[in-house]
Amino acid sequence: MSAGRSGRPVVVVTRRLPRPVEEQLAREFDARLNADDHPLSAVELADALRAADGLLPTVTDRLTAQVLAVEPLRARILANYGVGFNHIDTVSAKARGLVVTNTPDVLTDDTADDALMLLLMVARRGGEGERHVRSGAWTGWRPTHMLGTRVTGKTLGLIGLGRIGRAVAHRARAGFGMRVIFHDPSPPPAAVVSELGAEPRAGVDDVLREADFVSLHSPATPETRHLIDARRLALMKRGAFLVNNARGDIVDEAALVAALKQGTIAGAGLDVFEREPAVTPDLLTMENVVLLPHLGSATHETRIAMGLRALENLKAFFAGAPPRDRMA
Ligand code: DGY
Repeated sequence: MSAGRSGRPVVVVTRRLPRPVEEQLAREFDARLNADDHPLSAVELADALRAADGLLPTVTDRLTAQVLAVEPLRARILANYGVGFNHIDTVSAKARGLVVTNTPDVLTDDTADDALMLLLMVARRGGEGERHVRSGAWTGWRPTHMLGTRVTGKTLGLIGLGRIGRAVAHRARAGFGMRVIFHDPSPPPAAVVSELGAEPRAGVDDVLREADFVSLHSPATPETRHLIDARRLALMKRGAFLVNNARGDIVDEAALVAALKQGTIAGAGLDVFEREPAVTPDLLTMENVVLLPHLGSATHETRIAMGLRALENLKAFFAGAPPRDRMA
């Protein structure tokens, strides 16, 4: 095992993590923390790969083929902080002998809560109402003021029925009496689907045509890039809403803006964006759009659990055991 001056593996932690996680990382490893929390540039990432035995990166680190081609490469593991790892070129990582791990399970509930928050906010005009009160424009209750769309009893269409999709389905059925339909190219076992009371549909298009609310829970892969494009947005009901807290590039953001402008759909709740942290300027001006800054897993509890899970993967790896969450 390679090690730093302390005799412990050198681990570069690319962003600030909750304090209990940083403290434990510092106890277990020769941890190089990012005190000012700046996003690392490609050059800094390459330096980290040269200097450390392992990296603990996040979604803001673009570990491209070019960055991973660094010489000499010292790092042997990328213990990602997060379940999604589309920012890591896993083919190049594998070719360079790097193990890649992620942090599933621990963020499922909070990310599902975030999807329901977006759905409720956009349907019931929560963001718009909040802006209204803060602006001082509110003149008082009246029967016709700021009417929204009922959620209870409506049809929710899920694209992806993995861990998070299932947690959303459960909340929507149990909490809001929603009918849940879904499409997933690799669906969970039939018993799981039937226990959830979710109804499968043969394709994405079938879900879009039927749903009052569409919520995206697919991983970001080359196949899901712009899965929701102009053609598919046009299949949605005119009064339907789109929710995305998976990954920004699953939606063609320009096509979404056009659909919202034309009234093709009623609104959108977005936690993720195609060019994060940049947001298409038109979206910032639309009242029927809820915009959140990638908050899916952002609770104290979950962000600590994610860090401890990444740490557990690093510990196993450096102890010579298979890390629990190996993805590549
Ligand atoms: C996740 O876990 O994938 C979050 O989006 C942060 O990366």
